[in-house]
Amino acid sequence: MTAIDPTRQTFAQRGIVTSEAVAKEFAELRKRFDEEASRCPLDIENFQNLQVAWTGRKSGILSCIGDNWLKPAPPDLKRAVGQEFQRLKAHVEAKLEEKQREIEVAAEQAAQARDRIDFSLPGVERAIGTHHIIRQTFEELQRIFLSIGFSVVEGPEIETPYYNFEALNIPEHHPARDNMDTFYIEGTRGEHLLRTHTSPMQIRTMEKQPPPVRIVVPGKVYRRDNPDATHGYMFHQIEGLAVDTDITFCDFKGTVEYFAREFLGPKTKTRLRPSYFPFTEPSAEVDATCHVCGGSGCRVCKHSGWIELFGAGMVNPAVYGFVKYDADRLSGFAFGMGVDRLAMMKYGITELLVLFQNDVRFLRQFP
Ligand code: DAH
Repeated sequence: MTAIDPTRQTFAQRGIVTSEAVAKEFAELRKRFDEEASRCPLDIENFQNLQVAWTGRKSGILSCIGDNWLKPAPPDLKRAVGQEFQRLKAHVEAKLEEKQREIEVAAEQAAQARDRIDFSLPGVERAIGTHHIIRQTFEELQRIFLSIGFSVVEGPEIETPYYNFEALNIPEHHPARDNMDTFYIEGTRGEHLLRTHTSPMQIRTMEKQPPPVRIVVPGKVYRRDNPDATHGYMFHQIEGLAVDTDITFCDFKGTVEYFAREFLGPKTKTRLRPSYFPFTEPSAEVDATCHVCGGSGCRVCKHSGWIELFGAGMVNPAVYGFVKYDADRLSGFAFGMGVDRLAMMKYGITELLVLFQNDVRFLRQFP
């Protein structure tokens, strides 16, 4: 049998008649509350149970006291009961408020502990990559030509023999085709090939736009070369073409000299050696004084003082015929640079292959 809660009964029912006995009842109740409050864990749910049990409007202990102890108290006890009741009520309410604050502080601390940033931990270091040395070289080359009014265009890597050869004045059976052992694309009856140079974009550009033309063409090219330290089946070129009504050999030479000084340093000198390309006339190999020894001769330049940079020349008037340009009115120059070659030369790389192996120990050297 559970004992009846004393606050559910009147003093009369329980035979309490003196103010001392009343005080004792309140003292016991206060003790009971203090015990319950100190046992109550610091969380909202338990706190709310405690709060409802004591201050709940309908059947909380305080309202039971009001109903069962205070209201029916005989006149001679009324004052004492009223005073004790107010004291207890104030005590309970103060204690509950304090408890609520404690819970809020505890919750706040828990949240902080959960979200705390530990500034003493080492940060996450994300490795930032760099542009590949070939891309860096392309960008450097493009920067140089953009600075003197050229623009950059790109073209297809799968070409037709017409653009790759014929329109560049390299007819079938011309020995110049032998230099460029070509990958023909299987099943196309020789109608498609992997471009062997970026020069086809000279033709495509002139077909599409009237003069003047000032373009550079970066891109990949393919040849059936036997791989060795300086050859692979794929490499990179940047093509250049300038055509206008008043372009002379001097413009050609000046442009080449400007380029060499920008790319290899202000002291660089250039020379032109006669050469042959079907799409230029005259044609030249452009040499520069060795960037390592400055021209006095060293291992890099094989003790000649000069290094070969690229092939170039004045556009052969025969080419204008293929693109319906007026060969009597127009003139221009063209060049084709091996970007891998230029990069290897500039950075002292002796093996072509390392450019394409993507070994980070190599790549890291060119931040
Ligand atoms: N297309 C030539 C090659 O790949 C390079 C070249 C030489 C391009 C002279 C030119 C040029 O535009 O004028 O061997």
